[in-house]
Order: sequence, then structure tokens, then C-alpha cells
Amino acid sequence: MKGLTASKELLDLLNQAIAREIQVSVQYLWQHVQWVGVKGFAVKDELKKIAIAEMKHAEKIAERLVSLGGRPTTKPSPILVGENLKEMLETDRKDEEAAIVLYRKIVAVSRKEGDSVTERMFQEILADEEDHYSTFAGLLEDL
Ligand SMILES: [Fe+2]
Ligand SMILES: [Fe+2]
Repeated sequence: MKGLTASKELLDLLNQAIAREIQVSVQYLWQHVQWVGVKGFAVKDELKKIAIAEMKHAEKIAERLVSLGGRPTTKPSPILVGENLKEMLETDRKDEEAAIVLYRKIVAVSRKEGDSVTERMFQEILADEEDHYSTFAGLLEDL
């Protein structure tokens, strides 16, 4: 069977998604490791859980990219750990917001190309990112 194909635009978008999944997965894990204050105790575990979820997203997207004939990037988007809990959470909330924008676009582009597998995959990942956004927004409110 001939391999699946996708547009250059979609392959590039998937690599942008991978770059940011690697970024946030390291970012959240380092925030988890570096956070020492008592106030951040509840946040600490949450950061680790979300870091692992982001790594799984990276794997899923990379698998899809490879089956579409692309090559996953190894380069993360710029990682920003932050100096204090408020700064960390504000950065993370912003990163989730950016993910939501990007993944809505990927859903739309894959729909346009008739790639329903990628479309459905990003709808699922998008739901996770919306959860992460609410988690970070909620934690910020409690600070
Ligand atoms: Fe993610
Ligand atoms: Fe996320």
C-alpha cells in the first residue's frame, strides 16, 4: 500500500505541535522539580502529572507525523521555567492558551484535507489542553 501523505502545511503544523509539546513537558517537569515552597505543594504534583501528559502528546503526534511521511523535530520551543510560582503558572497558562489556538487550527486544516484521523486526534488533545488551561487558571486564582 502506498504511504499516507499530507500537505506541507499540515506536516509543518504537526512539527510545531511537537516542538511545543517537548517544550512544556520539560518546562512543567523542571518547575515540578524546582518548586520548594510550602505554598506550591499542591501545584507540584499537578505539574508532574501534566508534564507526563504532554510527553504522551508529543509521542502521539510524532507517530502520526511519521505515518504521514514527516520527520519529527527534536528541538523544543523556548523553555521558560520562571522564578516564582506566580510567574511559572502565568507562563504555563499562556502556553496552554497558545496550544489551544494552534490545535484548533490543526483540527481545521486536517478537516479541510479530509484527514479525519489527525482531526480526531487533535480534538482529543485539544480537550486535554483546555483542561490544563483551566487547571493553571484555577491554581493562579488560589495563589
Ligand atoms: Fe499537550
Ligand atoms: Fe497542555
